[in-house]
Amino acid sequence: MLNQEVYDKVVAEFAAKFGGKPEVVSYAPGRIEVLGNHTDYNEGYVFSAAIDKGTFFAVSAAADDKVTLVALDMGETYETTLGAVKKVEAGATWANYPLGTFNWLMGGDPSKAGKGFKAVFGGNIPLGAGLSSSAALEMATALALQKLYGTSFGKTELAKIGQKAEHTFAGCPCGLLDQASSMYGEEGALVKSDFRFNTFESVSMGPSVAFMMVKSNAKHALVDGAYASRRQACEDAAKYFAGVLRKPVTHLRDVTMAEWVLYRGGLSETTAKRAVHPIGEDERVLQGAALLEKGDLKGFGALMYDSHESSRNWFENSCEELDKIVDAAKAIPEVYGARLSGGGFGGSCCLLVDPAAAYRIAAQISREYKAAFGDEPACSLIKPSAGARLV
Ligand code: GLA
Repeated sequence: MLNQEVYDKVVAEFAAKFGGKPEVVSYAPGRIEVLGNHTDYNEGYVFSAAIDKGTFFAVSAAADDKVTLVALDMGETYETTLGAVKKVEAGATWANYPLGTFNWLMGGDPSKAGKGFKAVFGGNIPLGAGLSSSAALEMATALALQKLYGTSFGKTELAKIGQKAEHTFAGCPCGLLDQASSMYGEEGALVKSDFRFNTFESVSMGPSVAFMMVKSNAKHALVDGAYASRRQACEDAAKYFAGVLRKPVTHLRDVTMAEWVLYRGGLSETTAKRAVHPIGEDERVLQGAALLEKGDLKGFGALMYDSHESSRNWFENSCEELDKIVDAAKAIPEVYGARLSGGGFGGSCCLLVDPAAAYRIAAQISREYKAAFGDEPACSLIKPSAGARLV
């Protein structure tokens, strides 16, 4: 469904449910992660992009303290009051993303809002694909409610509000990548993030390349502990390096590959394997930036393949479905690089491709995937797009 059609549907549903037009409508896109995996919470670097699919959030103030959320795509409604906003433990757990965002936009005290709100949201980001539909919902909520209640947070602060909603309401200890990519995306450009200083730079890609997302049918659930255990291992490793290196270390960002090689012996084998992934990813993002400047897409793509090998062997956040997609991609000359994108453990692979060959690439990968697993992955060309905004 096109964005315009989604917008029309959301606004029509709003009229049907609440009558009239919404006071505010916002839009926030999903994201792809191109290079730099699990580096954000290690204060490292990432290349990502906002995509051309997203979530619309249409809202008006309520006359009383009622908060009503309608999830168009699920056909479900969640109702509460300002004084009762809290984490939804069972049932309509989707409400945690907008509720958590609202809660932290109000500094943890929703009663400060004075009045409640009534909202309808809907989008066209495939769920569970690793395209950050949840961050898109948070950022759309944040922008719309910021306008409705007159708060004045900047983009990075809004991204952090969404991240806090993930941590406290949704239960995923994520970094800032998804929310920041949704906020800072620009048409035709990658976002190069530095998560130590929270700086977000646009790097233009040129028309001769495109990204293809290939969605495996493997489960992608970041809330079930695997993501959290990876993050914990990185933090444990950073503490260890802070003790053995004669320089300040707060995060793995501060540790070089040479230092890892020299001192890894003091870590458990598993923790050492986890730590080397973000360390290597940081180096790859910096190398990738230099290659992009020279227009060396093959070189950049090779780093994407290295990134996937590091996920497969060290971080162990890949799975056989994602490995199959990357291995199939490697045999196709018009694919420059491929890797898993986002948390991992399922979800999608991100391929850097020659768009002229897109159809053939999708057909070949689907064929090989089907031969192995019996079903077909969903392939879609992604255009790096503009970030979140009021409509
Ligand atoms: C998920 C998280 C992000 C980031 C990626 C991995 O998308 O939400 O914060 O850690 O995984 O790079």
